[in-house]
Order: sequence, then C-alpha cells, then structure tokens
Amino acid sequence: MENTPNMTYSGLSVPQKYEHLHAFWNGIADDQVDWVANLSNAAALMKEIFNWWWVGFYRVNNNKLILGPFQGPSACTKIDFGKGVCGSSWKNESTILVPNVHEFEGHIACSSISNSEIVVPIFKDNKIWGVLDVDSEHLNHFNDIDKIELEKFCQSISAFL
Ligand code: SME
Repeated sequence: MENTPNMTYSGLSVPQKYEHLHAFWNGIADDQVDWVANLSNAAALMKEIFNWWWVGFYRVNNNKLILGPFQGPSACTKIDFGKGVCGSSWKNESTILVPNVHEFEGHIACSSISNSEIVVPIFKDNKIWGVLDVDSEHLNHFNDIDKIELEKFCQSISAFL
C-alpha cells in the first residue's frame, strides 16, 4: 500500500489534484476489504486533496439513500427517491452540478454553509448503487472538469463495492 498523502495540495491546479486523487486511490484501493473501508479512504483522500466542505457517499438501501462514509460536518442520514440533489441524481441516474444550492428547488440543506454542490451517481453491475455528494462553501465551485473526473473516480470505485 502506498502512503496516504502528506503534502500540501493548495498550490496545485484542479487537474493536478485529480491526478493525485486517481494515483493515490490506485495505491490504496483494497480488494481484500469491504466497501465501508474503501469508501472511507476515498472520502478521506478527497477531503485531504481538495479540502471540500463536505464529501461523502449515500448508498441505495430499502428504497432510500442512506448516509455512508464521509468527511465533514454531520449530515442527513436518509434521503428519499427524487428528493434533494442526491435523490434527483439517483432518479435521473446522471450527474447534477448545482452552482447555487439556494436556487435548486428541493435542495436539502444539511449544512447552512454549503453554497454549491455536485452529485455523481455510482453504478455497480449496471445498476445504481448510490451517489457521491460533494459540497462547497463557495458559489459556482464545480464545473465540467469535476464532472468528468468525479465520474471517472466513481467508475474506479465501483470495482470495490
Ligand atoms: N444537499 C444534499 C443533501 C446531502 S448533504 O448536502 C450532505 C441534497 O440536496 O440532496
């Protein structure tokens, strides 16, 4: 196993940060342990490299999204199908970029600090397994680079679920 990151990432460009994310993930993803262990490390890596306000996973279970491994403040534990940004991404099975959460009808505010958000669906065996949710305290924080790179990251993750 490679060491987890111990450097400062703030001086890197966003594409460089994603390069680190993919490289470190390839080093620590472990097919000998369960999804909780792997997604816990995935959340920690993203928090450490990007310092996003909140980053974590929700898993489809009993027709709801249930909170999984995350980094950041405590969050809502259950989200209904089609509700909020996460439930909408689940319903549409597609990534949702929200430049301003206050303008997204039905947004679920787990934290009043969050201003923008991206939610990426995660698939396993061609079925939706859950979502990756990332929140930022900055407006307009995410763009198409994040969409492309996080979709790629979620594809790598899916082999460890
Ligand atoms: N804002 C999300 C809820 C999850 S929290 O942000 C961690 C939503 O609207 O689905």
